[in-house]
Amino acid sequence: MSGALAALLALLFFAPLAFVYGRRVAAGIGRQARARGRSPLAVGLPKLAVPLVLLFAMLWRLAAHGTSLEPRVVATGWRSLDALLAVVDMVGGAAAILFFLTIPFAMGRVFGVAAAAFGAFGEAAGLPESTGRGNRSWRDMRDSFREESSVMAQRFTVAIDGPAAAGKGTLAKLIAAHYGLPHLDTGLLYRAVGRKAADLGLDLDDPDAAGAVARSLTPSALDDGSLRGREAGELASRVAVHPSVRSALETFQRDFAGQPAGAVLDGRDIGTVIAPDAEVKIFVTASPEVRARRRTDELAAKGRAPDYERILAEVRERDLRDAGRATAPLKPAADAHLLDTSEMAIDAAFLAARELIDGFLARRG
Ligand code: DC
Repeated sequence: MSGALAALLALLFFAPLAFVYGRRVAAGIGRQARARGRSPLAVGLPKLAVPLVLLFAMLWRLAAHGTSLEPRVVATGWRSLDALLAVVDMVGGAAAILFFLTIPFAMGRVFGVAAAAFGAFGEAAGLPESTGRGNRSWRDMRDSFREESSVMAQRFTVAIDGPAAAGKGTLAKLIAAHYGLPHLDTGLLYRAVGRKAADLGLDLDDPDAAGAVARSLTPSALDDGSLRGREAGELASRVAVHPSVRSALETFQRDFAGQPAGAVLDGRDIGTVIAPDAEVKIFVTASPEVRARRRTDELAAKGRAPDYERILAEVRERDLRDAGRATAPLKPAADAHLLDTSEMAIDAAFLAARELIDGFLARRG
């Protein structure tokens, strides 16, 4: 196949994909830009640079050599322009191979979008609806296109805040699974910092030491099973008062909240600080007595012998610390929906949360 034709076909192939996914990516970039107070260009360019360079290299390669995938790198000496072109050629060759490999996977989507575009055209041009026995009518095609586009545009962020043991973690997991959104338990980040600071024998009340630990945190630190325990929760609550710790963990959380796929985050300051633009905000509460009772029952079910009064005192102390700190204290955002789970089992709380989210989706249309 001639080079120009191959490049044109590749462009035609990418156009519908770019249309469908571009909306989703643009929405994510816009959200991240707003969250960080930067321009969409400044946020988007670094993210799009690699795909754009790859696309350019691939088109260049296809235009120059058609669909032949033979290696074309010629040793030309590193200082010359030819050497640069040889590198572009090599990258373009690799991108072209990848491109050909993805064709079978992407073809269904491309045909779907093309068929739907034909459907929209059919409606606009007043074509008769039936396209023959066994064929889909243009109305079906147009509807599937709308559905496809709205599923892409339907990505949204859910911010769930609340005090310890109110059930927000379980709720967040259920919501994430139901709507197919990625989930981040932000408490785990603070727990990992508290745990590591304690293991290193550092003073948890020293903002500089705790801040340094937070800045050095790596994702593998979150895998530690003991982080879910009560002790790590106490350590977390102590290091979480330091602005140095909070700011070190902020970018990661904001990026997670702004990702194009949408997200569910649970914590203390998600709706107020991390994702103030979240489409749905839920503040989950329950009385300290109910929360202490749940914790006690959880521990008893694991075969321990928990002391309810002590757990109640700890819950109250943690509430005071989390809500009383100067930076990003635990409090509902002005536009958060309050969900008091004192008298509610988790399935009822989940149902209530789904009603809120489905209501939002229906309003957005
Ligand atoms: O949600 P959790 O119990 O895992 O949180 C442990 C502690 O971490 C909590 O007491 C306060 C702190 N935290 C916070 O300050 N901000 C968050 N977004 C999440 C947790």
